Amino acid sequence: MWQPPQRIAFKATPGRIPTREAAAASRLFSPLRHGPLQLTSRTWVPAMVPWRADANGHVTDAVVDWYARLAEGQPGAIVIEATGIRDVPSGPLLRVGHDRYVAGLRKVTEAIHRHSDGRTRAYVQLIDFLAVKRRPPRASFLERFLRITDRHGAALGMAGADVDAVRARLATLDDAGLQAVLDVREWEALQKGARERVTDVDLPHIRDLPLLLPGLFADAAQRARAAGFDGVELHYAHAYTMASFLSATNTRADGYGGSVAERARLPLEVYAAVRAVVGADFVVGCRMLSEECIEGGSGIDDAVFFALKFARAGMDFLSFSRGGKFDDAKQPKPGDAVYPYTGVSGYECMPSYLSDEQGPFGRNLEPTRALREALRDDGLATPVVAAGGIHNFEQAERVLAEGIADIVGSARQSLADPGWWKKLREGRGAEVRQCEYKNYCEGLDQKHKEVTCQLWDRVGRDEPGVMRSRDGKRRLVAPEDW
Ligand SMILES: Cc1cc2nc3c(=O)[nH]c(=O)nc-3n(C[C@H](O)[C@H](O)[C@H](O)COP(=O)(O)O)c2cc1C
Ligand code: SF4
Repeated sequence: MWQPPQRIAFKATPGRIPTREAAAASRLFSPLRHGPLQLTSRTWVPAMVPWRADANGHVTDAVVDWYARLAEGQPGAIVIEATGIRDVPSGPLLRVGHDRYVAGLRKVTEAIHRHSDGRTRAYVQLIDFLAVKRRPPRASFLERFLRITDRHGAALGMAGADVDAVRARLATLDDAGLQAVLDVREWEALQKGARERVTDVDLPHIRDLPLLLPGLFADAAQRARAAGFDGVELHYAHAYTMASFLSATNTRADGYGGSVAERARLPLEVYAAVRAVVGADFVVGCRMLSEECIEGGSGIDDAVFFALKFARAGMDFLSFSRGGKFDDAKQPKPGDAVYPYTGVSGYECMPSYLSDEQGPFGRNLEPTRALREALRDDGLATPVVAAGGIHNFEQAERVLAEGIADIVGSARQSLADPGWWKKLREGRGAEVRQCEYKNYCEGLDQKHKEVTCQLWDRVGRDEPGVMRSRDGKRRLVAPEDW
């Protein structure tokens, strides 16, 4: 992962710890009511993929246990991990692309409601993504994956030569020679693995995304409702399809790219289709970026435009994240796929403890403040969720007191100590285990290994009944007395 060159080390601290009475009187533990969004407190666990679904994307016991453990902290809401809306193989990513997924997902919603004593709302993050291939070894790319065209033959001075001869010649070139012959996308496919973009409109399945996606998202949302979720979060953030439509890099010329209004069109159509099937009494919000943090990407002005559009259209909440793009991701090793949290934008999404002068805690707060202010100036009361390095009561309370956001999201701190919200509420804040922000969990996510926390995954792992990772080395949920 990229880190700021300053490499200044920061440590999360508990800050001012509230007594039980102070917690009861706090903003953080006060309820929030906004239409169907009914939260017992303003605490929120943002989506985190723990890689516990089975190979067909079904809920497993390990998925249920994971969310049950998070629910014991009784946050106002848990957004369950990015869940695929299509009925296509996507490895151990949770899926909701067919009715056969509903029964498994129902176990998750029941577990969240039961283990939180009814205090936690369960939302699911609905995701669509485009194909990302692994970085091929050079030899197999040139022998098999590269589609040889007349252009290659001509560039090599071999016009009309047969395909095998062109491949053989390409294999003799050094990198500079090869780069001169390949086009930009072919070179990228060799260097990082081929990656589809929403602008690849020559591919029919990409051209037709605006026809397909509203229905796919709507069907998925309906299944989520059938599974007992209290709402859905449309994933309009990071490196995935909907964020790519919103991106300033989206130059589609079919009315779904170019100007901000055209880039917002499909996300608005998806929202309208979802709302039409789930009705007004089911929570529908989105996670979107305050800034893409890439060269030529969308900035805060674009985000303000989108947020106003989404809020006016009737979304029940807006959750702001930042960065997390493929565009500036590090080159993967051959055989690995590019991971969108390895460049500068990735750092902005999940800042780690080695940072610059600004530090890793709350880097997304100022943009979030600007977005909320724009909403309020427009007379819109849509609740705003902030996230990014928030790890103690004092900081969370300040976010609310200063009007930066209405709800405080905390992902890694909740992973490090799933019970931390409850400990704070009960005046037991001194028992909270602080996240170290060294991103061990993220490293596991990158390899699609079961995500655990380095603070607890070796603690008591050999005790009877403890569920362990596939390699047997790590426990899968935090110990009970954590
Ligand atoms: C293991 C892991 C998996 C994540 N998966 C998702 C995801 O599925 N969807 C999403 O929007 N963000 C995902 N994130 C990002 C978090 O929701 C959050 O925005 C980010 O970690 C910054 O917040 P934090 O500092 O409170 O952790 C993930 C983060 C981690 C550490
Ligand atoms: S592994 Fe645990 S302590 Fe480290 S960053 Fe992740 S949640 Fe925090």
